Amino acid sequence: MPCSIAISIAISTANLNGHRCLFHDQRGLLACVAPGANGSAVLKSIVHHLLDRSIYYAFDATGFDRHAAAFDPDDGAVDLSGKVCLVTGANSGIGKATALSLARSNATVLLLCRSEARGLEAKRLIQAEAGHDRVHVEVVDMARLRSVCDLADRLQGERIDVLIHNAGALLSTRTMTEDGLETTWATHVAGPFLLTKRLIPRLATGARVIFVSSGGMYTQRLDLTDVAWHERPFDGVVAYAQAKRAQVILSELWAERLGDRALVAAMHPGWVNTPGVEQALPRFYRFTRNRLRTPAQGADTVIWLAKAPAARLESGRFWFDRKVASTHLMKRTKETESDRLGLWKLCEEMTVDKS
Ligand SMILES: NC(=O)c1ccc[n+]([C@@H]2O[C@H](COP(=O)([O-])OP(=O)(O)OC[C@H]3O[C@@H](n4cnc5c(N)ncnc54)[C@H](OP(=O)(O)O)[C@@H]3O)[C@@H](O)[C@H]2O)c1
Repeated sequence: MPCSIAISIAISTANLNGHRCLFHDQRGLLACVAPGANGSAVLKSIVHHLLDRSIYYAFDATGFDRHAAAFDPDDGAVDLSGKVCLVTGANSGIGKATALSLARSNATVLLLCRSEARGLEAKRLIQAEAGHDRVHVEVVDMARLRSVCDLADRLQGERIDVLIHNAGALLSTRTMTEDGLETTWATHVAGPFLLTKRLIPRLATGARVIFVSSGGMYTQRLDLTDVAWHERPFDGVVAYAQAKRAQVILSELWAERLGDRALVAAMHPGWVNTPGVEQALPRFYRFTRNRLRTPAQGADTVIWLAKAPAARLESGRFWFDRKVASTHLMKRTKETESDRLGLWKLCEEMTVDKS
């Protein structure tokens, strides 16, 4: 593989923002160095690029450490006093780490959890660690549209600064919700679509809407022909990656539709050591567990997107380790404009009774 990567490298002399582009490969990925960089900086940049191309050494904890070396230490210092942040799936893994960090930055945090007991346990821990009591639990099952509507109704008095769609799961069996939707699609796509739509009037100026997607979506092209898995044997990994692909496209579509009303972002956290991964992918977990990111590392870009100055962000982009990332690694996964419109229409249709 490194050999084919090396062969695919084409020397280029393009200039990007004053940086010299050393090479690009078939996927359009670039390795750039500052003007006047010495030999060791050039070599470092090439190694960095190849490690990122390996996926394994980008999505794992070493990838985070390597990328974090370029983070701006001042970014963590933003105070969120007076801001209201909502996090779905906030009682576990990445969502809990996100909620804790936002609370530590003095935000009021609403933990949107499907189990009240698990939500209250997370609330106790987060309040104790953050040192204030502006942490609240709201019960919602993101896979059930009625439950999403009830939550939106209860939030009518709120002003929302940050809405984080983090709840998710990779399921091994096909189950259908009371709305006639396959549960993976309902949890990741229909539920978040409806919640976003219902909460638009509640969004504060400069609000942020963030989707926690997954690098797994790189393997899939959007396919709307059978999202309920009626016509083929259920494959949980494909259903999950399809839903995560749909989240990324929807974040772009929401960004177009919301314009200056809110900043919309999707991100992927890398491979993170959470109960969700251990349960859903036990073999992958056993093989990688010593290399997985911590939940705090997985949550880092979510938190950064919630806090970074608007001037550093662009709505509708996909982020990884605080940088814009490509949404496709292969030509075959690219959707057409008609697929994108079809996705929006499908989400409208699936949620129409509840809007
Ligand atoms: N860990 C990774 O390597 C990784 C990589 C890429 C993307 N992600 C994404 O990151 C997000 C967080 O996952 P995680 O790894 O932190 O897993 P996790 O520890 O299992 O947390 C998932 C959270 O989502 C909640 N949830 C699931 N279905 C829900 C529903 N229908 N309604 C409300 N809440 C629901 C869970 O609630 P319960 O506790 O009640 O089950 C839990 O709080 C997910 O969207 C996942 O797809 C994770």
